[in-house]
Formats: sequence, C-alpha cells, structure tokens
Amino acid sequence: MSSIDAFVTGGTGFIGRWLLPELTNEGQRVAVLLRGDARRLAELRAWVDAHGGRGELVDGLTGDLASPDLGLGAGDLAVARTARKVFHLGAAMSFGLAPEVAEEVNVKGSERVTELAASAPRLERLVLVSGFQHRRSGRLTANRYHDSKLDADARVRDLAQTRGVPLTTVHPGPVVGDSSTGETTQFWGWPNLVRALHRGRLPILPGGADHWFPLLAVDYLARFLSRATQLDSTVGGQYWLLHEATPPLPELLNVVADELGVRAPRLHVPVSLAALGLRSGLSRWTGLPAEALAFVSRDRFPVTDAQHVAAALDLIEPDPIDLARITARFLVAHEFQYPDGHGRPVGGVLSPG
Ligand SMILES: NC(=O)c1ccc[n+]([C@@H]2O[C@H](COP(=O)([O-])OP(=O)(O)OC[C@H]3O[C@@H](n4cnc5c(N)ncnc54)[C@H](OP(=O)(O)O)[C@@H]3O)[C@@H](O)[C@H]2O)c1
Repeated sequence: MSSIDAFVTGGTGFIGRWLLPELTNEGQRVAVLLRGDARRLAELRAWVDAHGGRGELVDGLTGDLASPDLGLGAGDLAVARTARKVFHLGAAMSFGLAPEVAEEVNVKGSERVTELAASAPRLERLVLVSGFQHRRSGRLTANRYHDSKLDADARVRDLAQTRGVPLTTVHPGPVVGDSSTGETTQFWGWPNLVRALHRGRLPILPGGADHWFPLLAVDYLARFLSRATQLDSTVGGQYWLLHEATPPLPELLNVVADELGVRAPRLHVPVSLAALGLRSGLSRWTGLPAEALAFVSRDRFPVTDAQHVAAALDLIEPDPIDLARITARFLVAHEFQYPDGHGRPVGGVLSPG
C-alpha cells in the first residue's frame, strides 16, 4: 500500500473495529496504527470480513502512540501522510492508569496524531474521538484517564487551530454493543450492570427515578464517525453522541430483567451511597466496580448538533430499549466474555469511568 484514504489509530479496539467495515465498504484503503505483528493484522482483516467489511483494504503500520512520529519508520510515515482522513481513537483506558502512560499515550500521542495530520498534504479531516463527560467542567475525579482525555482534547483543538487542521470532535456516551447483534468486545460499564442483574446481585437501584445511564450503539457511532466527514459543515464541530431517548435507569433495568427472566430491584439508593457501598466491599459480591456508576447521573448533554448531522446523513438511531435487550442477550449468551479470542482480551478490564 503506497497511498491510503484513511489512517486510523485504535483500529484494533472496540470502536475502531466497527469503524473499519464502514470505511472499507466505501472502498477506502485504510492503514491502522498497529502494535504487533502480521498475525494481528491477519486477525483484524478476518474480523473486518466477518463483519461485512473488506479486510483486504486494511493494512497495518507498526507503531505506537507513545513514540516520536508514532513510532513509524520513514516509509510508513510517508504512507500515513497520504491519508485524506485521520481518525484518532487510540487511547490507554484503565483504572489506575500510570500518569506517565496517560501523558505519553493519551495526551502526547494525540498531539503526535495531530502533527501527522497537519503534515498530510491531502488531508481533508481529522476526527478526534474524545471523552463523553467533557461537558462536566474541570477535572472529574482523580482519574488519570479522564484528565488525560480532557488535556488531549484541549491540546488537539489548539494545535489543529494553529496548524490549520480541519478537525471534527466526537464525544461518545457509554458505548455498548452492536444494535443488530448486541456484539461487543467491551465488558465493563453497561455489561457490569447487566451481569450483576443477571446474577441476582443488584439488590438496589443506584440513583432516583430521574437518573439515567445513556446508551450508544457501537455500530451507530462508527457510522456517525465515518459519515460525518462527508459534510463540510462538520469541520470545527463538536458532537455529543448518545441515544437521548434512553429511559431512566430503573425502567431500563426493568426491561433487561424482563428480557433475562430475573427480578429487577425496587429500592432506590443515592448514587454516592451505592458507590460507597461498592467501595466498602460490595463490589466483590456484585461484580460491579464503583466506577461503573460514574455513568449514572441526571446530566443531560448538548446532543442537538449531533442530531442535526445524523438527520442530514439519514442515520437512523436504534431504539435504546431494543438496544438494551439485544446487548443484554448477547452478554448472557456469551457469558460476559468475547467468544473466540478475537481481538483484545477485554474480559475483566475495568471501566475507566
Ligand atoms: N468505549 C467507550 O465507552 C468510550 C466512550 C467515550 C470515549 N471513548 C474513546 O473512544 C476511543 C476508543 O475507545 P475503545 O472503547 O475502542 O477503546 P479500546 O477497546 O480500549 O481500544 C483502544 C485502542 O487504542 C490502542 N492503543 C492503546 N495504547 C496504544 C499505544 N500506546 N499505541 C498505539 N495504540 C494504542 C489499542 O491498541 P491495542 O489493541 O494494541 O491495545 C486499541 O486499538 C478512546 O479514545 C476512548 O477514550 C470510548
């Protein structure tokens, strides 16, 4: 591959995997920043083929976000610079992320990707997949993942402005599985709640009747990411993406309980108290990390701009109730782990919240 249409970081991750079929089905030649060898590329191509995309259009460029020039050799760097679109999804996500990893991978890595985009002569768009809770001001927690995503967001915006890079930023809500199949490679967040409910280990409802846990289907997000670049109007835009019609959490859990044939909890407990209980040991019994409750809130997000873009692109949002049912069925059927070892070993990885 001497020239490409799209350069993707995080292509081996949860969201990145769903993006690749979208791009390759448009005939785009895609290079993925890849940590690993030819076996990983072969696995990724097979995954793309199995998910309706064109694996033969995917190539891997060996590198690392944490290295100067993304660790790309001169030849690969030249290939990456032929891209018209750069999608930056790569990030280190985990609790207890070491500050130096957060800085090198998430913050400086994002700067490196922006520099690469700035040096690509045919560049039409850099798409940054940022964080969902950015609208809540300042530093949320002592969570280095969140802080590094906030820092990365600000630095990419500044750098893109200085270097004249056409930037589109997407802030996805908590991402769950595919809206048709429920398939996911991510087993924290929503899966934590579904698992606790399924095991009869969710005795309380975190939050009141007006709390919610917004869902976002991974396939819808991938479609939004790839197609938003078709609109000139999305240059400079920031889009909060989540399914606004997601019902309050008690209703959502009732739906899932019905689907799985288990009892739904009735007792409401404030989120802070529920988190305290989990931190004091209940986390082990429920299998629910306290941090998973970071997604349960009364917050609303400015989704109108994303809705306008979706309407302009004829994107149909999945019904969040159907999505909750379908994803829960997949999780239970696959015992809350990825079925066949494809992709990253994600089972047991905790949500960065
Ligand atoms: N999942 C969500 O609910 C959610 C919500 C809001 C925002 N986001 C953002 O969406 C993006 C993608 O998230 P995801 O859920 O797809 O994450 P994921 O499944 O953890 O994937 C992370 C990706 O980043 C790559 N990566 C990590 N460290 C790297 C490094 N040093 N050099 C090169 N690549 C590296 C991983 O490569 P390997 O396969 O080699 O590890 C993988 O491809 C992230 O920026 C995340 O912050 C996610």
